[in-house]
Amino acid sequence: MSNQTPSSTSHKALLKWVEKMVTLCEPESIHWCDGSQQEADSLFSMMVEKNTCIKLNEAKRPNSYLFRSDPRDVARVESKTFICSQNKDGAGPTNNWEDPREMRRKLKQLFNGCMHGRTMYVIPFSMGPVGGPISKIGVEITDSPYVVVNMRIMTRIGTPVLDVLGTDGFFVPCLHSVGCPLEEGDVDVPWPCNPEDTHIVHFPEERTIVSYGSGYGGNALLGKKCLALRIASTLARDEGWMAEHMLILGVEEPDGTKTYVTAAFPSACGKTNFAMVIPPKEMEGYKVTCVGDDIAWIKPGPDGCLYAINPEAGFFGVAPGTSFDTNPSAMTSCSKDTIFTNVALTDDGDVWWEGMTKETPAHLIDWKGNDWTPESDTPSAHPNSRFTAPAANCPVIDPDWEKPEGVRIHAMVFGGRRMSDVPLVSQAFNWGHGVYLGATTGSEMTAAAEGTLGKVRRDPMAMLPFCGYHMGDYFRHWIKMQRNLAETPRIFNVNWFRKDDEGKFLWPGFSDNMRPLRWIVERATGRAGAKETPIGWMPRYSDIDWRGLDMSEEDFEKLMHIDRERLRMQTLTHEELFLKLHEHLPKEMIFQREMLISRL
Ligand code: OXD
Ligand code: MN
Repeated sequence: MSNQTPSSTSHKALLKWVEKMVTLCEPESIHWCDGSQQEADSLFSMMVEKNTCIKLNEAKRPNSYLFRSDPRDVARVESKTFICSQNKDGAGPTNNWEDPREMRRKLKQLFNGCMHGRTMYVIPFSMGPVGGPISKIGVEITDSPYVVVNMRIMTRIGTPVLDVLGTDGFFVPCLHSVGCPLEEGDVDVPWPCNPEDTHIVHFPEERTIVSYGSGYGGNALLGKKCLALRIASTLARDEGWMAEHMLILGVEEPDGTKTYVTAAFPSACGKTNFAMVIPPKEMEGYKVTCVGDDIAWIKPGPDGCLYAINPEAGFFGVAPGTSFDTNPSAMTSCSKDTIFTNVALTDDGDVWWEGMTKETPAHLIDWKGNDWTPESDTPSAHPNSRFTAPAANCPVIDPDWEKPEGVRIHAMVFGGRRMSDVPLVSQAFNWGHGVYLGATTGSEMTAAAEGTLGKVRRDPMAMLPFCGYHMGDYFRHWIKMQRNLAETPRIFNVNWFRKDDEGKFLWPGFSDNMRPLRWIVERATGRAGAKETPIGWMPRYSDIDWRGLDMSEEDFEKLMHIDRERLRMQTLTHEELFLKLHEHLPKEMIFQREMLISRL
């Protein structure tokens, strides 16, 4: 199937870069991806033949495949992720940094001959609709066919992208290798040989990405976290827009009014579920549609308002816990045309994971390929097992999800996992206060192993692992955005995870999150009531739609309670991050903190 000479591009810089990488990596052959169905089918056939993946039961899960990765290569590795700016200060204290010249030398050694015996795939891809005014083009070179088929779902790939790129268009070069050259007689696997050598490297000034040693999604599908967040955040800073770790949803009201909202939550706080939330049936006429579940690129439009696109074309969702109860739309999204990674295989050739059904199957093949029964003492699916599903499969995908100029954003929401202190929902007084709320977002560590149980890990705007430059400058960029806007979206804070003294959740979550969401939408469009409190505007009991939920005014007060003394103490933990950033911290953050303390 090799597609050696692309007749479809005469982009000199692209051809030259590919040629240089061929000389460095020494692949056996080169394949330029056209993005066709035929191409994907033949890659899957080849991988099934080599036992790299399993074709699932066509009747139960059409056009879907199961991959099992190397057990050492199952997640993003923040400790091996680098921002190699010219100066250390450019990356800031929250990123790993190494001198770019030193790093290039190291990478050159690692990549030298690393594709021996393998095919080098060249994947032109577009983040955002092909040719759209907010979209960007990348080209990923990889030796992993698993990456090709995943990129085909997560982004728009192939010949149409080369057409838009033309002879001199801008693209982000993304080089990836699992780092496993083949010698005579070796069995081909798309997984790394030495995950210890993993390096996920960003050169923000050159706008290039180099990833070695991991086949896992966030480390290997370079359009996602690497381009759409780390590199894009630096592009956005320089060009006056925003690249955020945010879902985008639309709320449709009974009278047809449509309002779009973005929301940032740290990983593992239920972003995909919130992006597809199904309103309680008593809230008749309300509907939530999904534009994206992970990343938003947000730009001022000609009218001075902010517009957002989802740069991705698929969902790379965490499987465990996803069910027809918790997220029926995600279940339908992955009912066909889906790639599963590290979930369990059922005896009839379908997939299963913990939490998918109430009943556990009597026998499975687990994510490591071993027999599994409910008596086994490990989970059948890896806790970070994933589905890669086309967004177009989602039954609640927004009709405008591919609108090239994006959808107008009226509200932005920040949230984390907080057992105490943070109420269900509040609204910032203004943009600057909202930026402070986002900058001080945090989540409690849920397992002792991750650190002190209950200690709050600050994760500003949920961007801590994804901001491609100094976090203090990133806050400044947020503050500065307002200057070029005729109208800013309203900013909100939510917390679905507050508990009572006995450790019981005070809020049911899931569908009921539609209730604060309705208030958010009505506040953002000037229609709902609220009361002023030291931490922002908060709904009164009568401001929330309670149809179908038995929530007493007393229980609501518990959910919304603010303890001034405890909150004052919390500001000390804000200080911990601010001190780290202090040379680059915009003074607005200090003023906001002072005003908060005085209000408290
Ligand atoms: C993700 C993450 O996979 O945020 O989306 O970790
Ligand atoms: Mn994410």
